[in-house]
Amino acid sequence: MRSHYCGDIRRDHIDETISLCGWVDRRRDHGGVIFIDLRDREGIVQVVFDPDGGEFFELADKVRGEYVLQVTGRVRARDEATVNPNMPTGEIEVFGTELSILNASETPPFQLDEHTNVGEEVRLKYRYLDLRRTEMQANLQTRARISSQIRQSLESQGFLDLETPILTRATPEGARDYLVPSRTHAGKFFALPQSPQLFKQLLMVSGFDRYYQIARCFRDEDLRADRQPEFTQIDIEASFVEEKDIMDVAEKMVSDLFSNVLNIDLGEFPHMTYADAMDKYGSDKPDLRIPLELVEIGDLMTDVEFKVFSGPANDPKGRIAAMLVEGGNEKLSRKQIDDYTKFVGIYGAKGLAYIKCNDISDLEEGLQSPIVKFIPVEVRKKLLERMGAQNGDLIFFGADKVKVVNESLGALRCKLGEDLDLYTADWAPLWVVDFPMFESDDKGGLTAIHHPFTAPSVSPQELIADPEASLSRAYDMVLNGTELGGGSIRIHDEEMQKAVFKVLGISDEEAQEKFGFLLDALKYGAPPHGGVAFGLDRIVMLMTASESIRDVIAFPKTQSAQCLMTDAPGAVSSEQLKELHLRSRAPVVDKATEDGAQVAANEGTEKAED
Ligand code: AMO
Ligand code: AMP
Repeated sequence: MRSHYCGDIRRDHIDETISLCGWVDRRRDHGGVIFIDLRDREGIVQVVFDPDGGEFFELADKVRGEYVLQVTGRVRARDEATVNPNMPTGEIEVFGTELSILNASETPPFQLDEHTNVGEEVRLKYRYLDLRRTEMQANLQTRARISSQIRQSLESQGFLDLETPILTRATPEGARDYLVPSRTHAGKFFALPQSPQLFKQLLMVSGFDRYYQIARCFRDEDLRADRQPEFTQIDIEASFVEEKDIMDVAEKMVSDLFSNVLNIDLGEFPHMTYADAMDKYGSDKPDLRIPLELVEIGDLMTDVEFKVFSGPANDPKGRIAAMLVEGGNEKLSRKQIDDYTKFVGIYGAKGLAYIKCNDISDLEEGLQSPIVKFIPVEVRKKLLERMGAQNGDLIFFGADKVKVVNESLGALRCKLGEDLDLYTADWAPLWVVDFPMFESDDKGGLTAIHHPFTAPSVSPQELIADPEASLSRAYDMVLNGTELGGGSIRIHDEEMQKAVFKVLGISDEEAQEKFGFLLDALKYGAPPHGGVAFGLDRIVMLMTASESIRDVIAFPKTQSAQCLMTDAPGAVSSEQLKELHLRSRAPVVDKATEDGAQVAANEGTEKAED
């Protein structure tokens, strides 16, 4: 139906007769001449119809926004005065000689230009229209290029694209499962995979040596700007490898991607231990574009009379850290400091002490602060030296349990970086290594920081003797404060796997019931193996500078895990429920009294009891 894409027409095409198909972006009537901006996947071109065009001119007069047209015309140069340097097709226009309206359109519920300020709910309800917007077209086209580059990179390194099941058993990655009831096995459920973790390990046992998959994963967890319930991993596994082998493959994949798609050289990826990352940045995914650092000052504060400081300084689970903002005296107003005090409160901090360094040569009068009076002069001196403070600098303090200090000052560091635009680079990748195997959970037990199939750096005996001190052979790739991917060398012997389950409080019976197939497989010559998985959506988000993960997914879910376009999840008939041997306990609003608070029970539906 067409000879060219609208967005591809250039000066080279002048005097050619071409056919285009696309949507009416805009139609203007200029003193008897009709201008139509025709849009397709590749861009927009201006088409002109003048009254000499007869029936086609009349037809052109009828078209409205988002009508679908087929146009034939001759490409001609625009007048000097009407050249539009902001449009790739801005030097030319198409003089229309034929027109057919392929389809009409109702007036769209919102304007489809880049300035659209309509709420996201409306955009998501009419997603097929939202996706026509130039920005969304660009994001999804970049996404397609990224997937294609990744496939090329991994295939050129000998990785095989193999698929793993979607209907499966639970794979623990720390989130809730999405369950699918079985019709043929009453009372039993499939779980959708949180990742292909166990299957990719089994593929190594089967000898495929190098596997990858661009795999959909499902996690029922609290959603944020960079999390979706259904997301895509670039999942990788290889046999006969050590940490360095996998990290090399992954680093090459990401570096090639940035250089091929964005023409950016990410350079060497530094390695940082988890312990260093937490100490210096309060986070295991530090944004290294921001030059602020947390400095340990607990040793200086053990004897001060300020309990807020001496308490954590003398508590093995406490921490006092300070963070210096160069020139912060001028840059930060009293109101901003108050706002930051509220901000760190979100992370559980009970306050945000600070010192303004007005004149560091005068330790009595030169420091302005609500807390300095509680700190002896000799401690003030040591503190300023340790912080490398200069006149005009401002120092923030966090004193509490380690977790609270790390989370609050870590977040404040990122917020200051953004608010004061402190970034020293556009891109700052790194590897975080030497993670602990376990962390304490809320119930006094331990959970695996990565997953329970990650190999510890110690023997099974050492692991059981002191699990909390055991490090793992895991690694995370971090870019600009976002965890892009993570992986590890895996356990490939049964004894070690059992030791890990034991530390996690998973009994032999439970392990056999849930992962018997994996434990069995480890008995039949499992090779040493390891791998990594990247969040494709997060990579696309960073590479397109999108604010939300939803802007790089064609049909995403809302923050409450709903699709506003299809209205999923939706109700099902009582027939379907019966077939699946299910009965819903959810309260159902009676259609007849939908606006009232009345709750009715219908067939196959029980009133909620709790
Ligand atoms: P992990 O759980 O760290 O590891 O996931 C790997 C990467 O997937 C991305 N990701 C997400 N992206 C969007 N929405 C989500 N809800 C979401 N959850 C995770 C992140 C993360 O770095 N099986 C292991 C990998 C391995 O050991 O090989 C795993 O799934 O970018
Ligand atoms: P207060 O004695 O509670 O009035 O606090 C004195 C100063 O210390 C105020 O600036 C508080 O914001 C700050 N502050 C209080 N608790 C903490 C804490 N846990 N960590 C850091 N600063 C704190």
